[in-house]
Amino acid sequence: GVQCICDIMRALLPLLSLFLAWTTVAGAVDSVMPFMVYLDPGKMVCLHWGFDAVLGNITFKLVVNTTGWVGFGLSPNGGMTGADIVMGGLGPRGSYFSDYYATDETMPLVDTQQSYTLLSVAETNGQTIMTFERTMSTCDPQDLSITTQPIKLIYAYGLTDEITYHSTRRGTLEVNLLNYLPKMSMSNSTYLSVKVDNISIPPVKTYYHCKVMSFPTLTTKHHIYQIEPAIENYDIVHHLLLYKCPPFVTQGYSKPCYSGDIGDVCFGVVAVWGVGGGVFDLPEHAGLPVGGEPTPVFYRLEVHYNNPTMVCYDAGILTTGVLMLSSLEYTIPPKTPSFHTYGLMNPVPEFHVFAVMLHTHLAGRRIRVGHYRNGKQIDFVAFDENYNFEIQHFFNFGNFKTIKPGDEIAVECSFNTTDRSGVTKMGLATTDEMCLAFLVHYPAVSIATCLSHPLTMGLPNTSYDNFIFISDRLSGYENMLKLVPQYQVVTDDKVSNSLKCLIVYFLFITHLSNIISTHY
Ligand SMILES: *[C@@H]1O[C@H](CO)[C@@H](O)[C@H](O)[C@H]1NC(C)=O
Ligand SMILES: *[C@@H]1O[C@H](CO)[C@@H](O)[C@H](O)[C@H]1NC(C)=O
Ligand SMILES: *[C@@H]1O[C@H](CO)[C@@H](O)[C@H](O)[C@H]1NC(C)=O
Ligand SMILES: *[C@@H]1O[C@H](CO)[C@@H](O)[C@H](O)[C@H]1NC(C)=O
Ligand SMILES: *[C@@H]1O[C@H](CO)[C@@H](O)[C@H](O)[C@H]1NC(C)=O
Ligand SMILES: *[C@@H]1O[C@H](CO)[C@@H](O)[C@H](O)[C@H]1NC(C)=O
Repeated sequence: GVQCICDIMRALLPLLSLFLAWTTVAGAVDSVMPFMVYLDPGKMVCLHWGFDAVLGNITFKLVVNTTGWVGFGLSPNGGMTGADIVMGGLGPRGSYFSDYYATDETMPLVDTQQSYTLLSVAETNGQTIMTFERTMSTCDPQDLSITTQPIKLIYAYGLTDEITYHSTRRGTLEVNLLNYLPKMSMSNSTYLSVKVDNISIPPVKTYYHCKVMSFPTLTTKHHIYQIEPAIENYDIVHHLLLYKCPPFVTQGYSKPCYSGDIGDVCFGVVAVWGVGGGVFDLPEHAGLPVGGEPTPVFYRLEVHYNNPTMVCYDAGILTTGVLMLSSLEYTIPPKTPSFHTYGLMNPVPEFHVFAVMLHTHLAGRRIRVGHYRNGKQIDFVAFDENYNFEIQHFFNFGNFKTIKPGDEIAVECSFNTTDRSGVTKMGLATTDEMCLAFLVHYPAVSIATCLSHPLTMGLPNTSYDNFIFISDRLSGYENMLKLVPQYQVVTDDKVSNSLKCLIVYFLFITHLSNIISTHY
């Protein structure tokens, strides 16, 4: 086994130092509006934005080098006709702001329904800074919807607060607001492909192939800033994961996974790609660190990556949820339409999550990741109400969700086993189940995985078979699993490059009966 029980003080030291490192850079990043683009070549008009896909809102900050009026809009073709526009500013009589629409290339008309909310407007150093928000889809025919497709953004501004013809102070730029790929300089970067080729797929429904290999030695630390799949057989490839191995893995091989080989212990996720996913870009200021180790490090599986020199933070992927790494009894009953499992993470140093991938095997139907503070759910980190094993990919939030020390993250999975006649174990095999959330975050925490499951060992009558005499057998069993302590295993492969367990302790999750969706 890879587990060990260590003392909690050792675990807290690296976490504390990370927290201090963060305080020195706090404020460097706008966590609400992480994206930024100049709408004009002269850099007079700058747009910042961010969104919360769960709540469905998008926030903009328009910064224009003028003390006159400023305007911003979404346009079907780049011109004013049919455009959804806001104009505002700070004038002698205070702030002004309205939602407009344009039917032609003349003065826009005020919308009947005002779908944008002004959050603030200010003037400093000759610039007007206007912050406003709206829902992505307003259901107002005088507005345009914001989708995952690129959209033409238009801007205009005046030299005074009287909204009149803008003359040449106007322009347009096409941007994909919800799937923004910042233009990175590729001039001095390198890429490396990690390839599994020429293998025979056996005639089974689900097959996991593992390739364990080392990379050409990278003598200095590099950052992965983009992960691009290079897949020849899209019809048969479901997902790719690249894991970092502990130092005692020193030989490569290519063979089926989880059949008792040494590489099965490589569990530090470096990159993930799933069906339906495309190129994954990390934010401009965070990259996944690789290289710079004294001896060759081995990895398991496949990705594609480059390094720019301008990234400043290490990003990391933290795996949390339910995964059985021990042989404790924990099963999902058969013939059950919606059985819930919970994995809990607590405590953690402060970090910011900006993307997530959710993962179960075939019986998973719904995954919710709740964010708790002082025992109360304050947000979702992510959720998928219609989980589909065939479509797995990272999705970017468009903002950063800050997890503070002492917060808890709970991963809840619902499983449907109505078509199974035997119990489903929690485990690694594809016929088993797991309930995981891969949290892409920065600055990288020293934890690679934080997994938990109910501690049933040593407690009487915790097997599902013991619930046969209870009238509501299923909910009795489900509740028992919530009431027993959680056994939590935290692993770290970054500090010493060895897979080691830092903390094992017990948590009670009685408040978890209420992971609720704001949407349903
Ligand atoms: C816009 O204004 C800012 C703040 O005064 C200034 O630093 C910047 O150089 C200006 N940009 C241009 C293109 O004039
Ligand atoms: C979303 O934006 C709308 C329009 O500005 C606002 O009324 C609403 O309060 C916002 N919702 C959230 C959750 O921020
Ligand atoms: C580009 O890389 C070379 C070596 O690979 C290095 O000497 C040079 O300083 C780099 N240039 C920049 C602009 O980073
Ligand atoms: C692919 O693998 C087969 C069997 O393992 C081998 O005979 C063949 O030479 C390989 N082809 C290439 C192009 O490597
Ligand atoms: C569970 O799966 C069965 C069989 O696939 C399906 O008929 C049923 O609608 C599902 N129920 C739920 C709650 O997902
Ligand atoms: C355990 O279950 C058995 C029936 O399987 C029952 O007789 C026994 O009283 C139970 N023990 C406890 C401590 O609940």
